[in-house]
Amino acid sequence: MKKTALIYSFKSNKTKRIAEKIAGEFSEGEITKVNADTLTEEEFLSFDNYILGVPTWFDGELPIYWDEWIPALEEMDLKGKTFAVFGLGDQKGYPENFADGTGIMAKYITDCGGKLIGSTSAEGYTFESSAALDNGKFLGLVIDQENQPRMTPERVKKWVADIKKHFN
Ligand SMILES: Cc1cc2nc3c(=O)[nH]c(=O)nc-3n(C[C@H](O)[C@H](O)[C@H](O)COP(=O)(O)O)c2cc1C
Repeated sequence: MKKTALIYSFKSNKTKRIAEKIAGEFSEGEITKVNADTLTEEEFLSFDNYILGVPTWFDGELPIYWDEWIPALEEMDLKGKTFAVFGLGDQKGYPENFADGTGIMAKYITDCGGKLIGSTSAEGYTFESSAALDNGKFLGLVIDQENQPRMTPERVKKWVADIKKHFN
């Protein structure tokens, strides 16, 4: 059976809450929660399917725990593995870098040969630019708890239903 990891920082505040909502859409035992703060390469490579939680920090950057992981990731061969990224951002506070982290992570994954799934429509969000955009669509699920928390449950539900079809 294929193994699916839900990886995020257990210390992150809002990302953790979204990860828990995502986990709630899976049956018991279907996914494994993994802490990005203590992640090892061996642990990372032991999975087939991945859901990565990536908030944007520092005006369009990855948070420290993901940034520190990138040199190891860049050396990996991710062929045969499937990835979905969910990212958090603040479209009013950071309209020029909205959810950039989602796009930054998605690009590292595809550069390393990983298969990226779970792109979403950018309709319903208002911002100036985002590295998460590719051909008019977001490269993953983008959540804005600062400005659109009420839209989150529906966005999560719809996204998980979509990515499940691509995990096998
Ligand atoms: C110092 C700081 C910088 C941020 N920079 C960005 C940014 O460039 N783009 C963006 O969309 N959101 C940005 N945000 C908003 C966060 O991504 C958002 O609050 C997110 O929900 C944080 O998730 P976390 O609590 O799991 O870290 C920033 C927040 C802070 C506090």
